[in-house]
Amino acid sequence: MCGIVGAVSKSNIVPMLIDGLKRLEYRGYDSAGVAIVRDNEIERKVNVGRVADLEADIDFDRFKASTGIAHTRWATHGGVTRDNAHPHISQNNVAVVHNGIIENHHELREELMSKGYSFYSQTDTEVIVNKVDDFINHGDDLLAAVQKTIKLLKGAYALGVICLSEPGRMIGARSRSPLLVGVKPGEAYLGSDMSALIAVTNKFMVLEDGDIVDINQGQVTIYNNQDQLVERDVKTSSLSANAIELGDYHHYMQKEIFEPGQAIADTLEGRISANSVLEQSFGHDAAEIFDRVEAVQIIACGTSFYSGLVARNWFEKFGVRCDVEIATEFSSRAHVVPANALVLTISQSGETIDTLTALDKAKQQGYRYSLTICNAAESSLVRASDLVFMTHAGPEIGVASTKAFTTQLAALLLLAIVLGRRKLLDQTTEAELVNELRSLPGKVEQALSQDKEIQKLATRFVDKNHALFLGRGLHFPIALEGALKLKEISYIHAEAYPAGELKHGPLALVDSQMPVIAVAPNNDLLEKIKSNIQEVRARGGQLIVFADQESGMDADAGIEVIKVAPVDDTISPIIYVIPLQLLAYHVAVIKGTDIDKPRNLAKSVTVE
Ligand code: M6R
Repeated sequence: MCGIVGAVSKSNIVPMLIDGLKRLEYRGYDSAGVAIVRDNEIERKVNVGRVADLEADIDFDRFKASTGIAHTRWATHGGVTRDNAHPHISQNNVAVVHNGIIENHHELREELMSKGYSFYSQTDTEVIVNKVDDFINHGDDLLAAVQKTIKLLKGAYALGVICLSEPGRMIGARSRSPLLVGVKPGEAYLGSDMSALIAVTNKFMVLEDGDIVDINQGQVTIYNNQDQLVERDVKTSSLSANAIELGDYHHYMQKEIFEPGQAIADTLEGRISANSVLEQSFGHDAAEIFDRVEAVQIIACGTSFYSGLVARNWFEKFGVRCDVEIATEFSSRAHVVPANALVLTISQSGETIDTLTALDKAKQQGYRYSLTICNAAESSLVRASDLVFMTHAGPEIGVASTKAFTTQLAALLLLAIVLGRRKLLDQTTEAELVNELRSLPGKVEQALSQDKEIQKLATRFVDKNHALFLGRGLHFPIALEGALKLKEISYIHAEAYPAGELKHGPLALVDSQMPVIAVAPNNDLLEKIKSNIQEVRARGGQLIVFADQESGMDADAGIEVIKVAPVDDTISPIIYVIPLQLLAYHVAVIKGTDIDKPRNLAKSVTVE
């Protein structure tokens, strides 16, 4: 939520800041802005809308500087207006970009107003910039002013701060919102993540919670929350600038739907042998911890939560007790903590604040071990967990999560196997599952080959306002995920139900206007879901069924059948989600929505 980029260099940094903003735009895209230290002023350009709108407003021949900060916003406090866009400025002296929420901004605002400060925006951020200015006016330099200011803040923040009196200096600070420092001889940068900086450097440092970084004429000094000098490792990012290029695709979401074959292969690489899963891929201490684990508590949000719901079926089938809860709900109540429980977080970004908060809560309540399945190395969740398993999906830019989901499922099946082998899973079944996992990339390609067929089907949704998704067992979460994808990017209201629950209420919604999408693989629940399909047909519902070629289901009046190549039941959710992703994508293309940046959403939800 919100993207920050900042730079101190010897040359003009404005093109780099704009490029960084474009790469961060997936984090928030209500408005964007940039502030630079130039001659005798801090000059600020802001615009509502996209980074491209901001760029169009800039005269690049004139608007030049070697120190600057920039921001792309996802509105929390205050509407989407130019006044509320970042960077915020105080007295033409200080400029600040901020990601996060300051909970005590009311008190700080009142105190500053009593000192004569006036406010032009409705944001919580403006108190920060005014407070820094206030300290500078009382004799502090920029570093001391920011150090003193952040001690007054309650809430979450990542900040980039510059001031007129110290050109060539930029201060960054973070608490519960991510911030990286990019480094290069004589230059240094701030970025919410490496995608912002990868075009200029692949060397970076991760600020820890409470850290402040002083970037002064390219020299980088870091202090911890006690204001003590600290060293942070310089790491090398494996991200390539091209990995976040669109290539021949029309949208990032489309590109990412087509990538899971490779992404799953990368996620499995080095993690499986001929017949078994290598449990050291979960970390050094994994075997020792897994030997003690008696129960698994999964916590996640959105799509990552749905991958947890699929995985519960695998864990329990292999004899491992498992609960799954939405992170915010987990944090909202007390828990009876099972002995030797492993708390498992799942997250694409590793920065979802609700999941981080729930992990904290779980630790406080006595969950003994923690593991994260995550796609972002160096993220907050990775740092906060005892064990880490990285999915290697590569950068996911589209707000609607796709390849992250399929790789999470592959990772979760590996985990279910290593825990399950301590319970009910025998060696032969493990070897069969490993074989099935290895076959996944090929099966993904088969599923993707139905793209054109699904594109045609999508035309049926153009005039629809509602859709119902049905699934059973392992495939109920796939129905949930299909519904989430459709509503996120096409703005069609979509609900998913366990098919058996239909007659307990939602059947009342079914008529000839209601598309009903059923996920019906060839498993031991097939006959039951066939009965549910008949219940819908009898009421005139328009059915689209995703079924196995051998399920004996054929198209008929009011029922369209998309035949999916036969796939082993355990791994089938990883395959069946692909046509649902394609369906949502094509519906959104026809509806002309902003697919990669759907309204009101942001890729990484870093505010509560
Ligand atoms: O980065 P995370 O996996 O923690 O994100 C969790 C959700 O915010 C995310 O899955 C969200 O629901 C997506 N927009 C779904 O497409």
